[in-house]
Amino acid sequence: MDYLSITGPSRLQGEVAISGAKNAALPLIAATLLSDQPCTIENIPQVADIRTLLKLFEKLGSRFIFEEHTLTIDNEAIDNTIATYDIVKTMRASILVLGPLLARFGRCEVSLPGGCAIGQRPIDLHLKALEQMGALIEIKNGYVVATAPEGLQGAQIIFDKVTVTGSENIIMAAALARGKSTLINVAKEPEVVQLCELLSAAGVSIEGIGTGELTIHGTDRQPLKFDPFAIIPDRIEAGTYLCAAAITYSCISLSGVRPDHLDAVTAKLHEAGCRIESEADRMVIYPAARLKAFEISTTEYPGFPTDMQAQFMALATQAEGVSIIEERLFENRFMHVSELQRLGASIHLKGNTATLNGPIQLLGADVMATDLRASSALVLAGLAASGVTNVHRIYHLDRGYEALHEKLKKLGAKIERLKE
Ligand code: EPZ
Repeated sequence: MDYLSITGPSRLQGEVAISGAKNAALPLIAATLLSDQPCTIENIPQVADIRTLLKLFEKLGSRFIFEEHTLTIDNEAIDNTIATYDIVKTMRASILVLGPLLARFGRCEVSLPGGCAIGQRPIDLHLKALEQMGALIEIKNGYVVATAPEGLQGAQIIFDKVTVTGSENIIMAAALARGKSTLINVAKEPEVVQLCELLSAAGVSIEGIGTGELTIHGTDRQPLKFDPFAIIPDRIEAGTYLCAAAITYSCISLSGVRPDHLDAVTAKLHEAGCRIESEADRMVIYPAARLKAFEISTTEYPGFPTDMQAQFMALATQAEGVSIIEERLFENRFMHVSELQRLGASIHLKGNTATLNGPIQLLGADVMATDLRASSALVLAGLAASGVTNVHRIYHLDRGYEALHEKLKKLGAKIERLKE
């Protein structure tokens, strides 16, 4: 296995190009199941989760070419609607094929995704909504067996909780359902908005895009036709590099980014004393004179994103004063705390709230990545720590960050990717 060796403290400079958003590419690739014609998608990030999903598509009988950042995919010849455990267990977002496979083919079997490091990650809301649309859902031998031989029927769906992939699954199901669906308490993440925009451009009438209530008029199993499109920039990757600049007191610029997708993150960095200038698809961050402590409570978009919580905890170790970080979405998303403590951070945990008293001089050490965003927090801490920090199990990072160590090296970080 590889590990990252980082020598700090680092100073960064220059410009970093932001890749396409993994969490937009996953549902959008799943949405191509709603079409029986070839489709071309640009700006797909070269990350492990995308390659995993495409492995699943290969087993379904999909034909595709994925080169550089462009995917040309044709699902006309799909002859298998079983998403097997061996793939789904490695990437729970595979559950995103459930809605479209059922809507298009009337039957599918998808392995239960199971939990992950950050939480139990149930899919009860996905299944409940599909049943309300007339699907028969059984759980057999660890698989969701879903059938809708007459197709899905539009329905009014009220989500008990805001769920991103739950919303995406049901939006895709409703796109091919018979009649009108009204979805209430839908996620408003930019990735959900792009999915709605793509379906709308492909002929599905959708009202309320970008709001928490959608009205979708399904095509009654008429397959869709997608014009070529490009994935939106990754707002979490962008936020991670903004934090890299903030924690190392550096000035860097980001290109190929959507500043308007980062308002909550930008506001928090301003509170911490940084200054950020944004225009079109670029952002420039100027470091704080001295980082100031802040308070965070993670919530659904457009609030502060849970996927940036770990990175800001690393930043809080360098901020003057008491920072308070509350994780409201997941029950176990503090796995990075013990690793940050190995670097010297003093973090007090009480339930879902972490309290940090900074600034703390971090000292390099061996640390272990546990999940995607926790891994990036350890890299950020390594950039600020004095000495060498080795971040192990970086296959977690490879799931969602394209060429992270090359991008950081290009910004001037002393970072190497080595073999254990
Ligand atoms: C998506 O996960 C993202 N993944 C996650 O990003 C992100 O952290 C999360 O949304 C929250 O923003 C993708 O988009 C592929 P949820 P998802 O369903 O959809 C509860 C990353 O780092 N819930 O919005 O799985 C659930 O337990 C990943 O890129 C139910 O109770 O998250 C959680 O408490 C990590 N029942 C809350 O809702 C359900 O049926 C939000 O989960 C579904 C969800």
